[in-house]
Amino acid sequence: MLISDIMFTQRRRGTDGGGADLQLLVRKVPRDLHRWLRAKCKTGRTQNEVLLELLHGAMDREFGGALFGAVPIQSPPRTPPSGLFTFIDLFAGIGGFRIGMTMNGGRCVFTSERDRFCQRTYRAWFGEESIQGDINDPAIDLGRDIPDHDVLCAGFPCQPFSIAGVSKKRSLGMADGFADEKQGNLFFRICDIVDAKRPPVLFIENVKNLRSHDRGNTWRVIRSELEVRGYLLHAEVIDARAWVPQHRERIFIVGFDRGVFGDSPRFEFPDPPIAAAPILGEVLDPDPPAQYTLTDHLWGYLQAYARKHAAKGNGFGFGLVTPKDVTRTLSARYHKDGSEILIAQPPWNPRRLTPTEAGRLMGYGRRYAGAFGHGADFPIVVSDTQAYRQFGNSVVPGVVEAIGQRIADAIVARATGRSGSLLRRSRHSRTASVLT
Ligand SMILES: C[S@@+](CC[C@H](N)C(=O)[O-])C[C@H]1O[C@@H](n2cnc3c(N)ncnc32)[C@H](O)[C@@H]1O
Repeated sequence: MLISDIMFTQRRRGTDGGGADLQLLVRKVPRDLHRWLRAKCKTGRTQNEVLLELLHGAMDREFGGALFGAVPIQSPPRTPPSGLFTFIDLFAGIGGFRIGMTMNGGRCVFTSERDRFCQRTYRAWFGEESIQGDINDPAIDLGRDIPDHDVLCAGFPCQPFSIAGVSKKRSLGMADGFADEKQGNLFFRICDIVDAKRPPVLFIENVKNLRSHDRGNTWRVIRSELEVRGYLLHAEVIDARAWVPQHRERIFIVGFDRGVFGDSPRFEFPDPPIAAAPILGEVLDPDPPAQYTLTDHLWGYLQAYARKHAAKGNGFGFGLVTPKDVTRTLSARYHKDGSEILIAQPPWNPRRLTPTEAGRLMGYGRRYAGAFGHGADFPIVVSDTQAYRQFGNSVVPGVVEAIGQRIADAIVARATGRSGSLLRRSRHSRTASVLT
């Protein structure tokens, strides 16, 4: 047994009343983990006891079954901090990418998020102290301040690229017209980072209508800017409905650097999980606080508003759902009146989701909360208004995890295919990088 291995045992009762020792060997335990474990043992407990206690805690959160005999209902989370590959989390929000990529063995080496309330949540959830604010800050030296990384993740706010405006400026002889356009647009900041760092993989998320946005212009610019930089793009609209009880269609774009992966990276978007798709009841609290029930005034207003628009033949109105249903898309404006997702609770007025329920509806549930050390739910560390906003703006981590797994597979296939070894150190920095 190597020094980095840990062996521990569990006494298991047989059907005949006798017992047997089950042994588990954990190989290649990193040094910092070893040190931490030794410190824990100084409290008088054995290594075995400490590990079992940890596993019991994890098991209680995940499966509620027996330690070795239990068949998990879902596959257990892969231990987050493995460092199989590195990634950066741009426009990080509350970390949907961070969760999905970490679950696949990724290690986040840089985070940027401008909003201070999102930063607060991100810090509380991931213990991340170093968050870059505005990514447009001219003081950032992209080459120096952003570490080398394998995957660039970005769910960037979509702004139109006004070709009309640009050509008008050009026709007026304003040579810097396109530069003006570039300055304000966050997508071009991503391009600058791509130029400075050449990440082997790009993983971008955006609203479903990105392709039709600005009459197709936005998509044309995005595609050509990335292709001209040598990336092979895969894009797909995916409804998160298979992962969460919510319809939420988003476009996901995965780009592979042809210089690293060639013209046929081993990548396909994942199929939805085979397990039965969840329903709303699975994320609801049995006894939510009364404050989330609509007042007579607001409920009366929403009904009158819906009637008015129905009479005009419009579909606007509230979305009333029961625990058996799947909801509409949670929006960042949910905090205003909650009208897109109201939960029926006859004979009382309907109620809104609580912030914790809104988080679970986005997939920020027990499985991930447990994996990041938060028990059953991620803590809400901001006001209700900010929390609804954050969840409504976010990406469903389960979808990121599923796509991220395919990306990780492509990285592993590429890395092992070329050199036979997985982790190699980047030439440019101290950051470990799979693909150099
Ligand atoms: C669509 S949200 C992305 C949410 C994220 N994917 C998540 O899982 O929560 C876009 C985020 O970009 C942030 N943002 C906008 N402009 C920014 C900038 N210049 N620098 C850094 N972050 C910015 C916003 O505050 C917002 O949280």
